[in-house]
Amino acid sequence: MKTIVCAIQKGGQGKSMLSTHLAFLAAEQGRSVVAVDLDGQGTLTRNLFDGEIDRDASPTLSLFSGSIRRPTTLELPFSLKGSVSVMTGDRRLVQIDETPKIGAEALRDRLGECAAGADLVVLDPPPTLGKRLRAALIAADFVVMPFVPARESVDGLGDLMDTIEEVKRDYNPGLQVIGLLANKVNSRSSFDRRILDDLQDAAPDMLLPMMIHERTSVSGAMAISRPVWLGATGESRQKAGAEVRKACMHILQTVFKR
Ligand SMILES: Nc1ncnc2c1ncn2[C@@H]1O[C@H](COP(=O)(O)OP(=O)(O)O)[C@@H](O)[C@H]1O
Ligand SMILES: [Mg+2]
Repeated sequence: MKTIVCAIQKGGQGKSMLSTHLAFLAAEQGRSVVAVDLDGQGTLTRNLFDGEIDRDASPTLSLFSGSIRRPTTLELPFSLKGSVSVMTGDRRLVQIDETPKIGAEALRDRLGECAAGADLVVLDPPPTLGKRLRAALIAADFVVMPFVPARESVDGLGDLMDTIEEVKRDYNPGLQVIGLLANKVNSRSSFDRRILDDLQDAAPDMLLPMMIHERTSVSGAMAISRPVWLGATGESRQKAGAEVRKACMHILQTVFKR
């Protein structure tokens, strides 16, 4: 079992979008995937499945306290060689932050039992540098950081890297940083270009060799709970599908390389 977290302590960067596509692509490759929604807003849960879902059957909270539940396997409206199961996120997750006796190591200690038999676990944290993001970093084998090339996003990357280093030192020396994935890039913006160039100079090994542009077909696909590359017609949609797929392929190749 390999575990990956899409991490950045800001909202709107593409964590849930990327988590969703990693889960879909790995399942398309025949893998058994468990997606763990650590955000009270439940975006990952909704991105993956737009039908009725019983949020009491497999609440992510049970990965932190109480008896451990098993993930719910999704009956998706399109066929995949493998499978996607989900631990659903909802507002009860704030209990993790508010209960001091729930430790950040709980997720790591309980995930093996919950996700037994899974090939890949995808962890989707909330947009804060809090206990749940830390728990995900402690439990993960790999971390990838999607970010929007804007000053506010890039300014927080130092704090995020410090947190990752701390977690590696104190809990999880094997955590591998895959890198930074630029998302929602506007190719016509010279600001975006400059921020990416500066990052490339400051941390040449961190920026992944591909990026995802901002396109409504990406958010549109999430709104109908489908991978953006599925049945993509129209030039813009096809480009978006190819970009997201390329980034996910690269990430999964790193995760499953022998
Ligand atoms: N490349 C993109 N182009 C257009 N919209 C995007 C793109 N990536 C993400 N989005 C949309 O932006 C919003 C925020 O993305 P999301 O993945 O939920 O961010 P986060 O989980 O980091 O808060 C969602 O509506 C999502 O569908
Ligand atoms: Mg999210």
